Amino acid sequence: MFDEKDMILEAKHVTRRFPASGGRELTACQDINLKFYRGKTLGLIGESGCGKSTFMRFLVRLDVPTEGEILFKGKDLTKLKGEELRQTRQYIQMVFQDPSGSFNPKMKIRDIICEPLLNFGRIKPSEKDVVARKFLEAVELPGDFADRYPHNMSGGQRQRIAIARAIALEPELIIMDEATCALDVSVQKTIIELVCRLQKEKKIAIGFIAHDLGLIQAFAHQIAVMYLGTIVEILPGEDVDKAQHPYTKALLSAVFDMNMDFTKKIESIDSEIPSPLDVPSGCPFQTRCDHCMERCRQERPALTEIKPGHEVACHIFGREE
Ligand SMILES: Nc1ncnc2c1ncn2[C@@H]1O[C@H](COP(=O)(O)OP(=O)(O)O)[C@@H](O)[C@H]1O
Ligand SMILES: [Mg+2]
Repeated sequence: MFDEKDMILEAKHVTRRFPASGGRELTACQDINLKFYRGKTLGLIGESGCGKSTFMRFLVRLDVPTEGEILFKGKDLTKLKGEELRQTRQYIQMVFQDPSGSFNPKMKIRDIICEPLLNFGRIKPSEKDVVARKFLEAVELPGDFADRYPHNMSGGQRQRIAIARAIALEPELIIMDEATCALDVSVQKTIIELVCRLQKEKKIAIGFIAHDLGLIQAFAHQIAVMYLGTIVEILPGEDVDKAQHPYTKALLSAVFDMNMDFTKKIESIDSEIPSPLDVPSGCPFQTRCDHCMERCRQERPALTEIKPGHEVACHIFGREE
């Protein structure tokens, strides 16, 4: 569906297991395969605890998977070290839900925006004022905000600063982990409009974690639906209404509440999500699926392409139907 020559990052067979109490293992991500494309947004969606942040953290090397490769421009990010890792990190930036945690409260906005540029020797200290103003304008904030401290700003303005800082290094990929979900719906919308504009201008690839399918379908070019550590469906953002996996369909039927709380039970699914310590063999969704067959209890369904750009991991769409 996308031009393969625009692919900038590919996750291949990525699995992450965490040691848990009693000698057990928690599988947060299992055999994930995803591709990120220049100028396109991949929306990663799923209930709280399904492994979204664990996966995205690999892309910025805050963690490494237990198995698998993360190929960025042909290099495996999981194996990079030292100066090569430091240099590569410039090109993949992350924006978190609460930017305050990553800002030094004693630093002025000018220094917050310019810090990564100075660290990589991209600007001289004497250029800070001009550069900070340029990036403040890029995120539609007044240039004189350069003299403020983060606590003198609203949540939406702080998130714009986080975006300014992220784009300053001219990254090829920006990961946004629930970056707008703490904001009011109207502010959320303006931040997403900003991100979409910057993406178009700079051809940035974006990985956008959300728990609100309604929000993400408006702008994501591809959507990956995650359930208990596995990707159960990948489809073009514009085709969300054509989703086929029973889990995605359940999410869709719950979508119209803009502030849906995924920590609560989804109304249209009867039972609770199993623990990631106790993932059933066979299809991970079997315990909550109305269509569960014997085969679903035995065999884990692989992602199968049903249309270009649309893959579903469900035995209903298996090859041996
Ligand atoms: N460092 C860790 N050690 C142990 N378990 C972890 C760690 N990080 C995440 N987990 C577990 O992995 C699962 C997925 O977590 P996470 O990726 O944060 O989910 P999401 O971002 O989708 O809400 C959860 O069960 C979580 O408790
Ligand atoms: Mg998370």
